[in-house]
Amino acid sequence: MAVAELTPSSSSYTKTALHYSSQFSYVSARVSSRRRVYLKPQISRISCSVTSNEVQAPVAAKTVELKKKPDCFGVFCLTYDLKAEDETKSWKKLINIAVSGAAGMISNHLLFKLASGEVFGPDQPIALKLLGSERSFQALEGVAMELEDSLFPLLREVSIGIDPYEVFQDAEWALLIGAKPRGPGMERADLLDINGQIFAEQGKALNAVASRNVKVMVVGNPCNTNALICLKNAPDIPAKNFHALTRLDENRAKCQLALKAGVFYDQVSNVTIWGNHSTTQVPDFLNAKINGLPVKEVIKDTKWLEEEFTEKVQKRGGVLIQKWGRSSAASTAVSIVDAIRSLVTPTPEGDWFSSGVYTAGNPYGIADGIVFSMPCRSKGDGDYELVKDVIFDDYLWSRIKKTEAELLAEKKCVAHLTGEGIAVCDLPGDTMLPGEM
Ligand code: LMR
Repeated sequence: MAVAELTPSSSSYTKTALHYSSQFSYVSARVSSRRRVYLKPQISRISCSVTSNEVQAPVAAKTVELKKKPDCFGVFCLTYDLKAEDETKSWKKLINIAVSGAAGMISNHLLFKLASGEVFGPDQPIALKLLGSERSFQALEGVAMELEDSLFPLLREVSIGIDPYEVFQDAEWALLIGAKPRGPGMERADLLDINGQIFAEQGKALNAVASRNVKVMVVGNPCNTNALICLKNAPDIPAKNFHALTRLDENRAKCQLALKAGVFYDQVSNVTIWGNHSTTQVPDFLNAKINGLPVKEVIKDTKWLEEEFTEKVQKRGGVLIQKWGRSSAASTAVSIVDAIRSLVTPTPEGDWFSSGVYTAGNPYGIADGIVFSMPCRSKGDGDYELVKDVIFDDYLWSRIKKTEAELLAEKKCVAHLTGEGIAVCDLPGDTMLPGEM
């Protein structure tokens, strides 16, 4: 899915800075001014010595002092008593939602939807744990300030930071949006490696500190393989809990089918996106329905379905980037909401939704050990089952094999990050990551 800026945080300079950022709370002005000092390269060198317990004693002392402060932002540091508030008597237990890339465009749409109650419901109080980077930290403060100013009753806590080990603490949902965008001249293998390292680190952090049943939604591209890396680095969390966002592709496919059939899009159901969130993805018109009828009975133009429709959905992200000059943000946020709601509300009878999930033991014969978008149903408990009653024809199956081959190649390319040996990158030349044109 679309990308948000993120700086990998592996240096000791980063580690020093994060003590400030994660302990932001009441001391925003002081933290901000100190951060300016710490952003200077020569200071970052000195910061490294903090870990050796010498030279930087005053800095270390300040760090310790700040660490004692609650890990919260502004008004969200005030204590409150849920029991004392009449209107909250029927509320559910607070849930912790971690969001990476929290200062990016997608999050800017998403966070306010989460806080409003439209995702988890009007009786579900939430805590938002926002992960940013050194570079985006001030913007993250701005996001937190806007959340404060929105006076959302259900938003009970907001904390911000740049260390996933702190931000992911007790997370019950982790929405991993932050990823590095592909720069000019950057090879696909390089992008897989750079973002893979971020998701390996975040997987480890989730494994160490998140709820044992955390649900993880990977949005940062290449989201399928990032999700694979993340789950492989989180062996104590069920692999089934990891999702790569392909709901935006499903929504795009529904829109195109509705347009062609001349119906409103609520009449389009049973749309599966198979495979990778890339130009090899397969929008399935064989099993999809319009007004309860198979699409092929309503849209008789098979050539349009196989060529124009399929390509439009596959390349929609790239076309949007050409128009906007940046990745889709609002529609991605909406699709994250849809994807979460599909897991926390029962799937309507006879319908299903698409999600990129771990293939282990799938009923279709797709290779095991990759994250592949498939049709799912949920009872609304956060879990899902794969849909068994789907049909395949030669066209659909040959397309599925192509996207499967791409994901298997991506998997080999990140073997060094999944604990599966030495990476060998031989990516199919005729396929593209989302957003590439
Ligand atoms: C999209 O599908 O809109 C994005 O994933 C495109 C991109 O590469 O950011």
